[in-house]
Amino acid sequence: MLHIALAKGRIARKVMKSLSDGGYQFPDYSDDSRKLIFTDKEGRIRVTLVKSPDVAVYVRRGAADAGIVGKDVLMEDGEEDVYEILDLGIGKCRMAVSGIKGKRDVMNKRILTVASKYPSIARKYFAGRFQPIDIIKLNGSVELAPLVGLSDVIVDIVETGTTLRENGLEAYDYFMDFSARLICNKVSFKMKQDELNQFIQVVKKD
Ligand code: PRP
Repeated sequence: MLHIALAKGRIARKVMKSLSDGGYQFPDYSDDSRKLIFTDKEGRIRVTLVKSPDVAVYVRRGAADAGIVGKDVLMEDGEEDVYEILDLGIGKCRMAVSGIKGKRDVMNKRILTVASKYPSIARKYFAGRFQPIDIIKLNGSVELAPLVGLSDVIVDIVETGTTLRENGLEAYDYFMDFSARLICNKVSFKMKQDELNQFIQVVKKD
């Protein structure tokens, strides 16, 4: 059986749909279920739903043979000791510096306060512009930070732009593109080649 870790949320929903379209049946799965582990009817695949920064941890340690997670998360939280074997072309998003709509002059401040789930990516971006920053690491709902005066700007991914729009924010600068990647445990890559190939055929975008 192939053990797969999926990043909870949008990526997991898309991959579960591809698996279902590809003939894998998970009778107890639904998009809004709180269950975290699913095995398909024929016992070919076990899926675990994990927080995105943990996907590479599961794969690295062999708790999953393979995982699907955004490249943004891999860059921020580490991708060493796993193989990145495929760009799935789903979960496309862009990294942006954003802030309150119409207030982009804030970028000229001497020291900018930046809130982000991606402190490492944010630091590199501003270092490249020789802009001193004070970074605040958050774990979610980052768009709140400029609204309540916690930060001047945020560095976060934008997919549809809805979250920015609905909170009166705008992107000041887009600076990186990302998509979901299939990563693989190094031992499983050798030992479970056939199962992995079958899985890849189902989940890869045409
Ligand atoms: C991500 C990201 C943005 C939002 C962008 O958050 O951090 O908040 O999605 O998507 P959009 O452009 O389509 O609106 P996520 O939904 O993962 O939740 P979180 O804030 O709890 O991390």
